[in-house]
Amino acid sequence: METNMKGKKVLITGSTKGIGRGCADIFAKEGSHVFVTGRKQEDCDRVAAKIQQLCPEAKVAGVAADLRITEDVERLYAEVTKDGPLDVLVNNAGVYPTVSGKIKPFLELTDEDYEGLWLMDFMSPMRLARLAFRDMMARNYGKIIFVTSEAALRPNKDVIAYGAVKAAATALARGMAEATKGTRVTVNSVLPVTTITEGHIGYLESYAKTRGLSGVEEAKKDYFIHGNDAPSLIGRFTTVEECAMTVLFAAANDGVNGNSVLIDGGVIRHI
Ligand SMILES: NC(=O)c1ccc[n+]([C@@H]2O[C@H](COP(=O)([O-])OP(=O)(O)OC[C@H]3O[C@@H](n4cnc5c(N)ncnc54)[C@H](OP(=O)(O)O)[C@@H]3O)[C@@H](O)[C@H]2O)c1
Repeated sequence: METNMKGKKVLITGSTKGIGRGCADIFAKEGSHVFVTGRKQEDCDRVAAKIQQLCPEAKVAGVAADLRITEDVERLYAEVTKDGPLDVLVNNAGVYPTVSGKIKPFLELTDEDYEGLWLMDFMSPMRLARLAFRDMMARNYGKIIFVTSEAALRPNKDVIAYGAVKAAATALARGMAEATKGTRVTVNSVLPVTTITEGHIGYLESYAKTRGLSGVEEAKKDYFIHGNDAPSLIGRFTTVEECAMTVLFAAANDGVNGNSVLIDGGVIRHI
């Protein structure tokens, strides 16, 4: 399949690990110019060097930024675009559904919990998307992908705040897409279901405690029987690679715009 991503400049937030790292790998395999980001420069450099080694056709660089800080978002965008425009923005970085390492019932969620999620899962991707959107619309080309969550469409009592904020980000993406009419700019969301990443292990630890299970291994099984993913048709966690393929699909396919692309193993029953 020809994805046309060779030589394209791609910024993936939260790409030192997890789904973002999977996206960095897959775009690098396509020969893109990939920017790896996370909070620490040494981690960004280490991951970028590793991917570069595996994908000599690509160009891979690391740029650190704490996306909770507006100045860092602006500095990151300026650094990435200093020698040419950005083609693809993957807004992937997000805070985990456990708040402070705990699954919190609705009545225990504090204002600070909501504010932390809102800042990381809505405001910082919005700020970056706003910068990219202005330039992409001016040059009539660009792809913006928000990695949100199937929890945006399937509210879950264990992650109420997370689902609400991801729903807002998914709505933002759709609204931005409406403003692209008649251009070659597209804005989509990719909505993964539970995927085993470093970040997600903390959630499973918390799930195990809540259910009185022995640990993560038992939680992984229980989650498909009594947990939120019991309706899964594939009966397993999706992989980082499957999520990354979906992001690549959304970036490479000019006919996909304003979509909420699910990678949910069939947990959402719809036609
Ligand atoms: N895994 C799942 O089950 C799942 C399901 C649905 C949706 N999602 C969504 O998919 C996205 C990725 O999830 P994941 O599980 O791959 O996450 P993860 O393993 O926890 O990785 C998070 C990434 O974000 C970066 N990051 C965290 N805080 C940051 C900050 N303040 N500034 C800049 N970068 C920051 C981390 O980099 P450093 O630690 O190096 O700073 C890391 O690269 C998130 O938006 C998540 O909500 C995940």
